[in-house]
Amino acid sequence: MATALNPGGDVRIKMLYDRDAGYARLHTVCQQTFRRPTTGGTSHLSRNGMEKLSVLAPEDCAVVRQMIDLGSPFLSNRLYLRALLEKILTDEVDNRISDYFGSEYLPLWCRTYRNDPGGEQGVSFRWHCDGGPSKHLKLLLYLNGSDVHGGNTQFLNRDTTAAFKSIGYVFCDINERLGDLSALSHEHDIPYQPLRARVSEGDAILFEPANILHKGVWPTKGSRYLLQICIVPSPVAWRDACSRYAIPRGNADWPCVDKNWPAKTASDAQPLTSEG
Ligand SMILES: [Fe+2]
Repeated sequence: MATALNPGGDVRIKMLYDRDAGYARLHTVCQQTFRRPTTGGTSHLSRNGMEKLSVLAPEDCAVVRQMIDLGSPFLSNRLYLRALLEKILTDEVDNRISDYFGSEYLPLWCRTYRNDPGGEQGVSFRWHCDGGPSKHLKLLLYLNGSDVHGGNTQFLNRDTTAAFKSIGYVFCDINERLGDLSALSHEHDIPYQPLRARVSEGDAILFEPANILHKGVWPTKGSRYLLQICIVPSPVAWRDACSRYAIPRGNADWPCVDKNWPAKTASDAQPLTSEG
Protein backbone atom coordinates (compact mmCIF):
# COMPACT_ATOMS: atom_id res chain seq x y z
CA MET A 1 0.00 0.00 0.00
CA ALA A 2 1.32 3.46 -0.89
CA THR A 3 2.65 5.60 1.95
CA ALA A 4 0.39 8.51 2.90
CA LEU A 5 2.68 11.51 2.57
CA ASN A 6 2.27 14.82 4.37
CA PRO A 7 3.44 17.66 2.10
CA GLY A 8 4.35 20.75 4.11
CA GLY A 9 4.58 18.76 7.34
CA ASP A 10 8.16 19.86 7.90
CA VAL A 11 7.20 23.54 7.51
CA ARG A 12 4.39 23.14 10.03
CA ILE A 13 6.75 21.48 12.53
CA LYS A 14 9.28 24.25 11.99
CA MET A 15 6.65 26.91 12.68
CA LEU A 16 5.39 25.06 15.75
CA TYR A 17 8.77 24.88 17.48
CA ASP A 18 10.91 27.64 15.97
CA ARG A 19 8.24 30.36 15.92
CA ASP A 20 5.34 29.43 18.22
CA ALA A 21 7.36 27.80 21.01
CA GLY A 22 10.08 30.44 20.75
CA TYR A 23 13.18 28.35 19.95
CA ALA A 24 14.39 30.45 17.00
CA ARG A 25 14.29 33.60 19.12
CA LEU A 26 16.00 31.77 21.96
CA HIS A 27 18.80 30.69 19.64
CA THR A 28 19.33 34.24 18.39
CA VAL A 29 19.51 35.61 21.93
CA CYS A 30 21.94 32.85 22.96
CA GLN A 31 24.22 33.60 20.00
CA GLN A 32 24.18 37.32 20.80
CA THR A 33 25.18 36.72 24.40
CA PHE A 34 27.84 34.07 23.65
CA ARG A 35 31.23 35.15 24.99
CA ARG A 36 33.54 32.22 24.24
CA PRO A 37 35.74 31.96 21.14
CA THR A 38 34.54 29.26 18.72
CA THR A 39 35.80 27.58 15.60
CA GLY A 40 32.99 29.22 13.63
CA GLY A 41 30.93 26.27 12.46
CA THR A 42 33.86 24.35 10.98
CA SER A 43 33.38 21.05 12.85
CA HIS A 44 32.18 17.94 11.05
CA LEU A 45 29.00 18.18 13.12
CA SER A 46 28.33 21.75 11.99
CA ARG A 47 29.12 21.04 8.34
CA ASN A 48 27.34 17.70 8.01
CA GLY A 49 24.89 17.49 10.88
CA MET A 50 26.44 14.40 12.49
CA GLU A 51 29.69 13.29 14.07
CA LYS A 52 30.97 10.36 16.12
CA LEU A 53 33.23 10.86 19.13
CA SER A 54 34.70 8.54 21.74
CA VAL A 55 33.36 9.83 25.04
CA LEU A 56 32.83 7.56 28.05
CA ALA A 57 35.25 5.07 29.62
CA PRO A 58 34.22 1.36 29.53
CA GLU A 59 34.06 1.16 33.34
CA ASP A 60 31.61 4.06 33.45
CA CYS A 61 29.53 2.45 30.69
CA ALA A 62 29.41 -0.79 32.71
CA VAL A 63 28.10 1.05 35.77
CA VAL A 64 25.30 2.71 33.80
CA ARG A 65 24.36 -0.59 32.11
CA GLN A 66 24.10 -2.22 35.52
CA MET A 67 21.92 0.62 36.79
CA ILE A 68 19.63 0.21 33.76
CA ASP A 69 19.34 -3.53 34.49
CA LEU A 70 18.50 -2.78 38.13
CA GLY A 71 16.03 -0.03 37.22
CA SER A 72 17.98 2.29 39.50
CA PRO A 73 16.10 5.45 40.48
CA PHE A 74 19.42 7.30 40.23
CA LEU A 75 18.96 7.28 36.45
CA SER A 76 16.20 9.83 36.86
CA ASN A 77 17.97 11.74 39.65
CA ARG A 78 19.14 15.12 38.43
CA LEU A 79 22.16 15.25 40.72
CA TYR A 80 23.34 11.86 39.46
CA LEU A 81 22.74 12.85 35.84
CA ARG A 82 24.53 16.13 36.44
CA ALA A 83 27.60 14.17 37.63
CA LEU A 84 27.34 11.79 34.65
CA LEU A 85 27.13 14.74 32.26
CA GLU A 86 30.41 15.98 33.69
CA LYS A 87 32.01 12.82 32.21
CA ILE A 88 30.09 12.92 28.92
CA LEU A 89 30.37 16.60 28.01
CA THR A 90 34.14 16.50 27.60
CA ASP A 91 36.06 19.45 26.19
CA GLU A 92 35.91 17.82 22.75
CA VAL A 93 32.13 17.30 22.95
CA ASP A 94 31.69 20.79 24.39
CA ASN A 95 33.64 22.28 21.47
CA ARG A 96 31.50 20.49 18.91
CA ILE A 97 28.22 21.52 20.50
CA SER A 98 29.15 25.17 21.04
CA ASP A 99 30.57 25.30 17.51
CA TYR A 100 27.27 23.93 16.15
CA PHE A 101 25.03 26.38 18.03
CA GLY A 102 27.44 29.31 18.09
CA SER A 103 26.29 29.66 21.68
CA GLU A 104 26.15 27.99 25.06
CA TYR A 105 23.81 25.03 25.37
CA LEU A 106 21.98 22.92 27.94
CA PRO A 107 20.89 19.29 28.27
CA LEU A 108 17.09 19.59 28.21
CA TRP A 109 16.40 15.93 28.95
CA CYS A 110 18.28 12.71 29.38
CA ARG A 111 16.97 9.12 29.10
CA THR A 112 18.34 5.62 29.06
CA TYR A 113 17.14 2.69 26.94
CA ARG A 114 17.65 -1.05 26.80
CA ASN A 115 16.47 -2.94 23.73
CA ASP A 116 16.56 -6.73 23.73
CA PRO A 117 16.63 -9.05 20.72
CA GLY A 118 13.13 -10.36 20.10
CA GLY A 119 11.50 -7.34 21.72
CA GLU A 120 8.92 -5.16 20.03
CA GLN A 121 10.40 -2.45 17.82
CA GLY A 122 8.95 1.02 18.37
CA VAL A 123 8.48 3.75 15.75
CA SER A 124 11.99 5.07 16.42
CA PHE A 125 13.22 2.03 14.48
CA ARG A 126 11.66 3.34 11.27
CA TRP A 127 12.98 6.30 9.27
CA HIS A 128 12.01 9.65 10.78
CA CYS A 129 13.16 13.08 11.90
CA ASP A 130 12.43 14.19 15.46
CA GLY A 131 9.78 16.81 16.04
CA GLY A 132 11.58 19.75 17.63
CA PRO A 133 13.35 23.03 16.84
CA SER A 134 15.33 23.18 13.58
CA LYS A 135 18.48 23.67 15.60
CA HIS A 136 18.71 21.13 18.36
CA LEU A 137 20.98 18.16 18.91
CA LYS A 138 20.75 14.61 20.16
CA LEU A 139 23.69 12.84 21.71
CA LEU A 140 23.34 9.06 21.43
CA LEU A 141 25.77 7.44 23.83
CA TYR A 142 26.34 3.77 23.14
CA LEU A 143 26.86 2.03 26.47
CA ASN A 144 27.93 -1.14 24.67
CA GLY A 145 29.29 -1.71 21.19
CA SER A 146 27.47 -2.66 18.00
CA ASP A 147 29.75 -5.72 17.74
CA VAL A 148 28.26 -6.99 21.00
CA HIS A 149 24.56 -6.49 20.29
CA GLY A 150 24.29 -6.17 16.50
CA GLY A 151 22.18 -3.02 16.80
CA ASN A 152 23.02 0.46 15.64
CA THR A 153 21.57 3.70 14.27
CA GLN A 154 21.32 4.56 10.58
CA PHE A 155 21.33 8.03 9.08
CA LEU A 156 20.67 9.81 5.78
CA ASN A 157 22.53 13.01 4.98
CA ARG A 158 21.03 16.51 4.97
CA ASP A 159 20.47 16.66 1.21
CA THR A 160 18.68 13.31 1.11
CA THR A 161 16.62 14.29 4.13
CA ALA A 162 15.67 17.58 2.45
CA ALA A 163 14.56 15.61 -0.63
CA PHE A 164 12.35 13.36 1.51
CA LYS A 165 10.98 16.47 3.23
CA SER A 166 10.09 17.95 -0.16
CA ILE A 167 7.88 14.97 -1.04
CA GLY A 168 6.19 15.00 2.39
CA TYR A 169 7.64 11.82 3.88
CA VAL A 170 9.33 13.49 6.85
CA PHE A 171 6.73 14.24 9.55
CA CYS A 172 4.13 12.07 7.88
CA ASP A 173 1.74 10.22 10.20
CA ILE A 174 3.83 8.33 12.73
CA ASN A 175 2.17 5.06 11.66
CA GLU A 176 3.25 5.67 8.04
CA ARG A 177 6.97 5.60 8.88
CA LEU A 178 8.92 3.05 6.84
CA GLY A 179 11.81 0.82 7.81
CA ASP A 180 13.10 0.80 4.25
CA LEU A 181 12.96 3.84 1.97
CA SER A 182 14.34 2.14 -1.15
CA ALA A 183 10.99 1.89 -2.98
CA LEU A 184 9.99 5.47 -2.12
CA SER A 185 13.43 6.78 -3.10
CA HIS A 186 13.21 4.92 -6.42
CA GLU A 187 9.70 6.24 -7.07
CA HIS A 188 10.81 9.86 -6.47
CA ASP A 189 14.35 9.54 -7.83
CA ILE A 190 16.00 10.33 -4.49
CA PRO A 191 19.49 8.95 -3.75
CA TYR A 192 19.28 6.47 -0.88
CA GLN A 193 22.51 5.54 0.82
CA PRO A 194 22.00 4.91 4.54
CA LEU A 195 25.02 5.65 6.71
CA ARG A 196 25.94 3.61 9.73
CA ALA A 197 29.01 3.91 11.91
CA ARG A 198 30.70 1.06 13.75
CA VAL A 199 30.05 2.12 17.34
CA SER A 200 32.16 0.91 20.22
CA GLU A 201 31.39 0.98 23.93
CA GLY A 202 31.43 4.62 25.07
CA ASP A 203 31.11 6.13 21.58
CA ALA A 204 28.68 8.99 21.13
CA ILE A 205 26.99 10.15 17.95
CA LEU A 206 26.01 13.81 17.94
CA PHE A 207 23.49 14.74 15.26
CA GLU A 208 20.74 17.18 14.39
CA PRO A 209 17.60 15.02 14.48
CA ALA A 210 15.28 17.57 12.86
CA ASN A 211 17.36 17.67 9.67
CA ILE A 212 18.87 14.19 9.46
CA LEU A 213 16.60 11.22 8.78
CA HIS A 214 17.53 8.41 11.15
CA LYS A 215 16.32 5.10 12.51
CA GLY A 216 17.42 2.75 15.22
CA VAL A 217 18.67 -0.70 14.22
CA TRP A 218 17.27 -3.36 16.50
CA PRO A 219 19.84 -5.59 18.25
CA THR A 220 20.24 -9.19 17.15
CA LYS A 221 22.90 -10.65 19.46
CA GLY A 222 22.45 -9.01 22.84
CA SER A 223 20.88 -6.07 24.65
CA ARG A 224 21.53 -2.62 23.19
CA TYR A 225 22.11 -0.06 25.94
CA LEU A 226 21.79 3.59 25.05
CA LEU A 227 21.72 6.94 26.78
CA GLN A 228 20.13 9.79 24.86
CA ILE A 229 20.55 13.48 25.64
CA CYS A 230 18.54 16.26 24.02
CA ILE A 231 20.51 19.50 23.72
CA VAL A 232 19.26 23.02 22.97
CA PRO A 233 20.84 26.50 22.93
CA SER A 234 21.19 28.24 26.27
CA PRO A 235 21.91 31.80 27.35
CA VAL A 236 24.20 30.46 30.10
CA ALA A 237 26.73 27.61 30.25
CA TRP A 238 25.25 24.16 30.89
CA ARG A 239 26.63 23.77 34.45
CA ASP A 240 25.10 27.10 35.39
CA ALA A 241 21.80 26.15 33.71
CA CYS A 242 21.68 22.81 35.56
CA SER A 243 22.21 24.56 38.88
CA ARG A 244 19.46 27.12 38.20
CA TYR A 245 16.79 24.99 36.58
CA ALA A 246 15.19 21.54 36.86
CA ILE A 247 17.24 20.02 34.06
CA PRO A 248 18.02 17.57 32.70
CA ARG A 249 14.39 16.55 32.73
CA GLY A 250 13.17 13.00 32.56
CA ASN A 251 10.43 13.53 29.98
CA ALA A 252 10.81 14.36 26.32
CA ASP A 253 8.33 17.24 26.16
CA TRP A 254 9.27 20.68 24.88
CA PRO A 255 8.67 23.62 27.18
CA CYS A 256 7.71 26.86 25.45
CA VAL A 257 10.39 29.50 25.71
CA ASP A 258 9.39 32.45 27.84
CA LYS A 259 10.84 34.67 30.54
CA ASN A 260 11.07 31.62 32.80
CA TRP A 261 13.18 29.70 30.29
CA PRO A 262 13.78 26.92 30.75
CA ALA A 263 10.50 26.14 32.54
CA LYS A 264 11.20 24.89 36.05
CA THR A 265 8.60 22.15 35.89
CA ALA A 266 6.49 20.64 33.16
CA SER A 267 3.52 22.61 34.45
CA ASP A 268 5.27 25.98 34.15
CA ALA A 269 4.68 26.16 30.42
CA GLN A 270 2.60 24.46 27.78
CA PRO A 271 4.77 21.58 26.60
CA LEU A 272 4.78 20.26 23.06
CA THR A 273 4.90 16.53 22.60
CA SER A 274 8.01 15.20 20.90
CA GLU A 275 7.78 12.82 17.97
CA GLY A 276 11.26 11.47 18.64
FE1 LIG B 1 14.56 10.05 16.56
